[in-house]
Amino acid sequence: MTTTTCRVCDGKVQEFADLGEQPTANGFLLPHEAENEFFFRLAVGACELCGMVQLLEEVPQDLRYHAGYRYHASGSASHRAHFEGNARRFLATELTGTDPFIVEIGCNDGVMLSTVADAGVRHLGVEPSSNVAAVAAAKGVRVLSEFFDEDTAAAIRAEHGPADVVFGANTICHIAHIGSVLRGIDALLTPAGVFVFEEPYLGTIIEGLAFDQIYDEHVFYFSVESVSAMAAQFGFELVDAEHVPLHGGEIRYTIARQGARTPAPAVAALLDGERARGLSRPETFQRFGRTVERVREDLVALLHKIRAEGKTVVGYGAPGKSSTVTNYCGITTDLVPFVCDSTPGKQGHLVPGSHLPVRPPEAFSDPYPDYALLFAWNHAEEIMAKEQGFREAGGQWIRYVPEVRVG
Ligand code: SAH
Ligand code: TMP
Ligand code: ZN
Repeated sequence: MTTTTCRVCDGKVQEFADLGEQPTANGFLLPHEAENEFFFRLAVGACELCGMVQLLEEVPQDLRYHAGYRYHASGSASHRAHFEGNARRFLATELTGTDPFIVEIGCNDGVMLSTVADAGVRHLGVEPSSNVAAVAAAKGVRVLSEFFDEDTAAAIRAEHGPADVVFGANTICHIAHIGSVLRGIDALLTPAGVFVFEEPYLGTIIEGLAFDQIYDEHVFYFSVESVSAMAAQFGFELVDAEHVPLHGGEIRYTIARQGARTPAPAVAALLDGERARGLSRPETFQRFGRTVERVREDLVALLHKIRAEGKTVVGYGAPGKSSTVTNYCGITTDLVPFVCDSTPGKQGHLVPGSHLPVRPPEAFSDPYPDYALLFAWNHAEEIMAKEQGFREAGGQWIRYVPEVRVG
């Protein structure tokens, strides 16, 4: 167990879970690239002062985000619908003044901003991964292919003027230089503007045992309590918080300048709930660490039993999460020969670290395996509806969040 310095407040971060040596979770490899893979120790801890849960060690950002970034946000129908809804909500609420302006940090392939662009509203996506930025640009989205920080923010403000909304989804928790981001937002926002971000929720991960959400890209694991403290430290105030049903359970935080808006009752209600449940108590974190070890034992035991019975198992979905769970559990091709995934850029590649080959979804039914290990468990409904034939053929799904179950 080691400690590190909190990236938000300089307090001491106490480790509570160690998921071992791990590669970068979206670093899908071509077979010949498997030799010189980058590994780091994936461990999480909580700050004794501000409560922020964060990685102990981090991977440099240019190893994570580059021209070969594989995550395309528009890959799932439910994500497309969700982000279109987000855009429509901004257009109807925050972006109604004269010539409003919205900036998105981490716009990826334009899943949210394309709706804003179609509405003819001024916008700018900041997206360092140039391959996905190009996809956004092809949809008519205006993109700056850089890492967002206080310098980028100042440059945007100088060129475009202040922003009514700064938005980020599944991106803000990725940025280790969070202080620079918040100073940048301070420089960029209008006096009445809002910074809205939706990110994996610490409660989902700790209480829902979604341990596979822990990987190199997720530097921070936000709670209402820690975001509230972080906002206050940078002159802001948390004025709204609501649950979002993405990635197994997230929270959308709305931050405004201190005193600019009346906080919605949901903020105090969610804070009270977290405190009553003891979400950020050291005992809660220690228990999480122990339970995750038990899930690993159960999953590995199940896969060995399936193999001993001469039955087959295939992985379904190769999200970044599949890297955490396969590397943590030591799942290699002798237990799971391959994984199916609908993302063309992942097919023909290997899951980082564990090196499970990724094949197109058609390989799933050719022939159906006896079991399917559902790595993309947050898309269970969509996938099971699409793959009804698997169960009809007698197949069974294996899930491991919050515990190992078959059915
Ligand atoms: N918003 C999308 C994409 C999330 S993936 C969604 O919710 O699905 C995270 C994205 O953040 C990646 O496209 C990555 O390139 C981008 N990113 C990482 N660090 C960033 C930074 N400092 N500034 C802006 N974008 C960043
Ligand atoms: P995500 O959990 O980060 O959204 O990633 C989900 C992964 O699962 C992504 O690589 C695409 C894949 N996937 C499929 O293969 N089939 C599907 O039907 C869905 C919804 C996702
Ligand atoms: Zn701290």
